[in-house]
Amino acid sequence: METRTVRQDAAELVRRWVIPGESRVYVLTFGCQQNEADSERLLGLALSLGYGRADSPEDAELILVNTCAIREHAELKALSIIGGFKHVKEKNPRVIIGVCGCMAAEPHRVEDLKRRYPYVSFTLEPAKIACLPTLIAETVQRKKRTFLLPDAPDAVPKIDEGIPVERLSRHKAWVSIMYGCNNFCTYCIVPYVRGRERSRASGEVLSEIEGLVGNGVREITLLGQNVNSYRSDCDFTGLVRRVGEIEGDFRLRFMTSHPKDVSDDLIACFSGVPHLAPHFHLPLQSGSDAILKRMNRHYGVARYRSIVERLRARDPEITLTSDVIVGFPGETDGDFEATLALLREIGFDQVYSFIYSPRRGTPAADYPDQVPPDVSRERMRRLLDLQCEISAEKNRPLVGQTLRVLADGPSPDGTPGVVTGRTAGGKLVHFNAPENVVGQFVNVRIDRADAFALRGTLSE
Ligand code: SAH
Ligand code: SF4
Ligand code: F3S
Repeated sequence: METRTVRQDAAELVRRWVIPGESRVYVLTFGCQQNEADSERLLGLALSLGYGRADSPEDAELILVNTCAIREHAELKALSIIGGFKHVKEKNPRVIIGVCGCMAAEPHRVEDLKRRYPYVSFTLEPAKIACLPTLIAETVQRKKRTFLLPDAPDAVPKIDEGIPVERLSRHKAWVSIMYGCNNFCTYCIVPYVRGRERSRASGEVLSEIEGLVGNGVREITLLGQNVNSYRSDCDFTGLVRRVGEIEGDFRLRFMTSHPKDVSDDLIACFSGVPHLAPHFHLPLQSGSDAILKRMNRHYGVARYRSIVERLRARDPEITLTSDVIVGFPGETDGDFEATLALLREIGFDQVYSFIYSPRRGTPAADYPDQVPPDVSRERMRRLLDLQCEISAEKNRPLVGQTLRVLADGPSPDGTPGVVTGRTAGGKLVHFNAPENVVGQFVNVRIDRADAFALRGTLSE
């Protein structure tokens, strides 16, 4: 790990290279909320070096691509976009292109970027974000490209507190409380690219949240790949309860939880902790015990069902959402039918479903019985059809109710006079309202509902 002085010298050097008012940074983000949170730190660091913010990559001298490696598709998309930046670099030799995020922690991708993308100056894996100034300094001072080899897989990286954060929303904030994952689900790349689990001290987390709430932030989301296995000077429920004691008008969310770490104490938080939003995202992955076992998930259908029952006993209205993988190696028609049956039985409000994508270096990629793509696609289609019906059914009873909504921003399709927000349960609502409600809690009367969103009108 580099010392503080090395880092400060590097930062000084970059500040001399940056042209005030002219050099700007653009950060492009793929992947999950962890990556969105990391991008806010990459941006914060770049701004602290004197860069301004660019509106597009064409307008930037520093382009950081924060990549995701969870599925093949995410990687190919990032690579194709990085390929397009060749022309930006050709037009302006001062342009520096860095590839950050989870792909930058895969040795074969780093090798590929080094060999086939000569206009990429460096790669920077998620655990080493604080090294950004050093990598830029190497590029400008020594005209050197830097491709750091990822740390040994058993290393527990140090948590860097104090990296500047440039938050992209004024009313919502991500707060990473733990990093990495030790679960090694057999399909998943995350433990390899994000390293071993490590948790921030609760005092750091609490003072960050107090600062945010003091600045008027209305929604705090605690983040971790396996957020409910947080453990430092207290455990996860201890932390949730302490955040619940912070005064202010804000909602608390957390993601992503693992079923094996859901305790009765955590379930109790849903009726005992003020601020905690009535929404639980709890990835199921499959409704077949045989598949769950081969996924190395450490729970079976019975345990998952019992968590749902206990959550609903606490709060019958709680929103439940989940992730499901379709076409995991060895998934038979029977396994898949069991997943559909469980989705029907549980009735999730929303399910994010993914076709299994083999990831190099993970055990499942070498399992012999890979499911043919056309079978996976057909299963996916059936799952989407079923879940669409279930979600629509779940949303229908909300019509006629007036719900408290946090107004997030203008409607994504740009319809004038329409604002988008989320209910306490996390449901998307589009409603007629002036734009100055953005960032506030408002009451919205729900007029219509379909599987994916609610439609409503501002009510007094
Ligand atoms: N840590 C979280 C999120 C992991 S990534 C968790 O444990 O749930 C988000 C989702 O992507 C996972 O829940 C899983 O459904 C999906 N996923 C992960 N690896 C995948 C792969 N190789 N192919 C397809 N989907 C995958
Ligand atoms: Fe991946 Fe499993 Fe860890 Fe989630 S819990 S990040 S799915 S290995
Ligand atoms: Fe993707 Fe890395 Fe998140 S692989 S899903 S960006 S942890």
